[in-house]
Amino acid sequence: MVVPDREEASVGLRSEQWYAGEDRNAYIHRAWMRRGGPSDAFTRPQIAIANSASDLTPCNAHLDEVAGAVANGVREAGGIPLNLPVVSLGETNVRPTAMLWRNMAAMAAEEMLRANPVDGVVLLGGCDKTIPALLMAAASVDIPAVVVPGGPMLTGTFRGVPLGCGTDVWRLSEEVRAGTLSQEQFIRSESAMIRSRGHCNTMGTASTMALVAEALGTVVPGVAGTPAPDSRLLEASHDTGRLVVELVERDRRPSTFLTKASFHNAIVALAAIGGSTNAVVHLLAIAGRLGVELTLDDFDRIGSGVPLLVDLQPAGRFLMEDFHRAGGLPAVLREVRDLLDPTGLTVTGRPLVDHLGDAPIWDPEVIRGRADPIITEGGIAVLRGNLAPAGALVKPAAASPHLLQHRGRAVVFDSIEDFHARVDDPDLDVDADSVLVLRGCGPRGYPGMPEVSNMPLPKKLLERGVRDMVRICDGRMSGTAYGTVVLHVAPEAAAGGPLGLVRTGDVIVLDVANRRLDVEAPDLLSRTPSAAMTSAFASPSRGWERLYVDHVLGADTGADLDFLVGSSGSEVARESH
Ligand code: FES
Repeated sequence: MVVPDREEASVGLRSEQWYAGEDRNAYIHRAWMRRGGPSDAFTRPQIAIANSASDLTPCNAHLDEVAGAVANGVREAGGIPLNLPVVSLGETNVRPTAMLWRNMAAMAAEEMLRANPVDGVVLLGGCDKTIPALLMAAASVDIPAVVVPGGPMLTGTFRGVPLGCGTDVWRLSEEVRAGTLSQEQFIRSESAMIRSRGHCNTMGTASTMALVAEALGTVVPGVAGTPAPDSRLLEASHDTGRLVVELVERDRRPSTFLTKASFHNAIVALAAIGGSTNAVVHLLAIAGRLGVELTLDDFDRIGSGVPLLVDLQPAGRFLMEDFHRAGGLPAVLREVRDLLDPTGLTVTGRPLVDHLGDAPIWDPEVIRGRADPIITEGGIAVLRGNLAPAGALVKPAAASPHLLQHRGRAVVFDSIEDFHARVDDPDLDVDADSVLVLRGCGPRGYPGMPEVSNMPLPKKLLERGVRDMVRICDGRMSGTAYGTVVLHVAPEAAAGGPLGLVRTGDVIVLDVANRRLDVEAPDLLSRTPSAAMTSAFASPSRGWERLYVDHVLGADTGADLDFLVGSSGSEVARESH
């Protein structure tokens, strides 16, 4: 536990606006909140515990226990803990896709933090969208905030072999389609997939966002990646509860320490751990809330010189339990310390690099040393060209090296439903060199930018032993997936992007070395989108989906809503008693 710098000045409490004074409103605020706390409760820091626990978000179902440990720490440090249930998003359950609701969860958390008498907040997340949404909210409200990541699950095994949660679902289902695994064995593996509480145990989006949040400086260093059932998570939660009270006393708000340097360090971490491409949209959205100028190109510029050091699924062998045992994020960051920005601060008030002194690698098979990287240049490549003028991503570490330079004939699908209807048609004109193109899956087109870019391969090619093909899509890909997938193509087809003008038979050229994605079609921009394609775009008539479609921005800037970018601040002057 790192004690913050005591030299920083103490400040008045935001909650005094509700509780201080002799007038009727202060009476009302205090009277309704007298619940058996100490007599001076209303002069102490009021700490919200933004708790995304939900039975419908299995990855976060244990967070009530974590919240209890945080509350103990808050009390011990002299604060008042306040449980604040927030919108919870269970990646596997929520329809049509959890990403549709990320901005809603962020907006709801932002407004509840603004609306209530709280001075600081501990953000409890785990499943993919929960940490990004809560960080977006805290960044906009700009009150002292610390994240406690709920942690990954322990490793399950099937037939004596470790199961990577998520990743092995794709692998096993492809084996069934290829005829190398029986349907019965596939179903039997289901009960072995989830061994314990916690989120997916691969280097998927949840693991990535927990680690990236730590590199960003918003988690107590060394905590992210602690497995959910590990007693050290509760210990760290307790300590975080103590820390947030001190942050309030020192007015250490996100805007005071989250800078471009913090995002630089997050991108270095993302590359070194081989993290999910989903981190790109989430980091862009968080930066947008803070007014930090972060662009898609920063990910390539900063990340591509960083060696990939972590051998975890989906691209590698091990799982998060192994990662934690091997030394976790501090051990990784210590190896690339020279690539970090030494000015990037953390919630402790000290630079991230100051926390890397004693961080050995305990298992060099899982976390490689700098001299022995898995790939010398990791990171996420940002492609541009006439097919993606605003950018597209590919993760070379998850791709097949021989496909990173490729020319192939496009086979185009107008929606995910169109894809499912035709991909296994024996008459589909497709071969191993074809490029599968799926559109209508961007933030606006679907809506919500689902994780469908890693399209399953046509069955007839699987049966011939084909295991990877170039795939291009304006949607996202699960962090637990792999393959030569070009994704987040921007502008998306539904926003008038040229992806909507490609036709089956066009030749597509992928050149990752030169960061290019083009279609050889001189008449491309004079074409008009087909009626089949435009009719596939959703046009919701009401509710959140309507609001979302009208206001969502492109993946290249984080897919936030246009009116949510930036800070709302914590001041709410009006009250109606
Ligand atoms: Fe929640 Fe994977 S389903 S992290």
